[in-house]
Amino acid sequence: MESLWSDVDDYFTQHLAPADDALSGALAASVAANMPPISVTPTQGKLLHLLARMIGARRILEIGTLGGYSTIWLARALPPDGRLVSLEINAEYAAIARRNLARAGLGDRVQVMVAPASDSLRTLAADRVAPFDLVFIDADKASGDRYFLASLALSHEGTVIVVDNVVRKGAVVDSETTDADLLGIRRLTELLAREPRVSATVVQTVGAKGYDGFILARVTTDAGSP
Ligand code: SAH
Ligand code: DHB
Ligand code: MG
Repeated sequence: MESLWSDVDDYFTQHLAPADDALSGALAASVAANMPPISVTPTQGKLLHLLARMIGARRILEIGTLGGYSTIWLARALPPDGRLVSLEINAEYAAIARRNLARAGLGDRVQVMVAPASDSLRTLAADRVAPFDLVFIDADKASGDRYFLASLALSHEGTVIVVDNVVRKGAVVDSETTDADLLGIRRLTELLAREPRVSATVVQTVGAKGYDGFILARVTTDAGSP
C-alpha cells in the first residue's frame, strides 16, 4: 500500500503542487547537507499554503525550520508586508534555510530564530510581538504540548494552529508507550480535550511519507490577552 499511496501523492503533486526552482533547490540543498528527509510533502506544503491564504494570514509562526521547505510554501501565502518567524535549534540547518529562502525571494519576509524553540517562544512573548494568524508546529514531538501552550499565548481569536506528525503510523494509540515523542503527542491531545480556548480535530494522512496525520486547531478566544 505504501507505494500506491506514494504514487497517488506523486500524481496529485504533478498536477496540483508542481515543484519550481526554489522548492526543488531547497530540497536538493537539504539532501546535500545530509538533513533528514522529513520535510512536508508537496501536497502537504500546498495545504499549509492554502490554509494560510484561506484565513488571509499576515503573520505566521513556524516551529521547526529544517531546510525551509515548508517555510517557502507558507511564506508564499503572505502579502508583501506579511511576516513569518521560524524557530530552529540547529544553526547549520538555519543557515541553509536562510539561503533557500533568499533564493526563493522570501528573505525579506522570513526571520529564522536560532535557539531551542522554548527559548525563542519565551523571547517572542517577552517582546510582546503581535499575535500570529497561523502557527505550524513541526519540531521535536516530545515538546508538542508545551509548544502548543506557548503558541496559544501568541494567538488571537481565529488563529489556526497545525501540529504535524501526530499519528506516526498509528503508534499514537499505544497507551503503554514510553516513547518521549508519543508521550508528547498524547499529552497534547489530552490538553486539547480540556482546553476551552481551542477547538481541534485530527486529519489522518497517507502519502509519500507513509501513514501519519496532523492536528488542526482554531483558537476560540483572544487567548493571548489575560
Ligand atoms: N518544517 C520542516 C521540517 C521540520 S523537521 C518542513 O516540513 O520542511 C524538525 C525540525 O525541528 C528540525 O530541523 C530540528 O532541528 C528542529 N528542532 C528539533 N528540536 C527543536 C527544538 N527544541 N527547538 C527548535 N527546533 C527544533
Ligand atoms: C519526523 C519529524 C517530522 O517533522 C516529520 O514530518 C516526519 C518525521 C521524525 O522526527 O521522525
Ligand atoms: Mg513534520
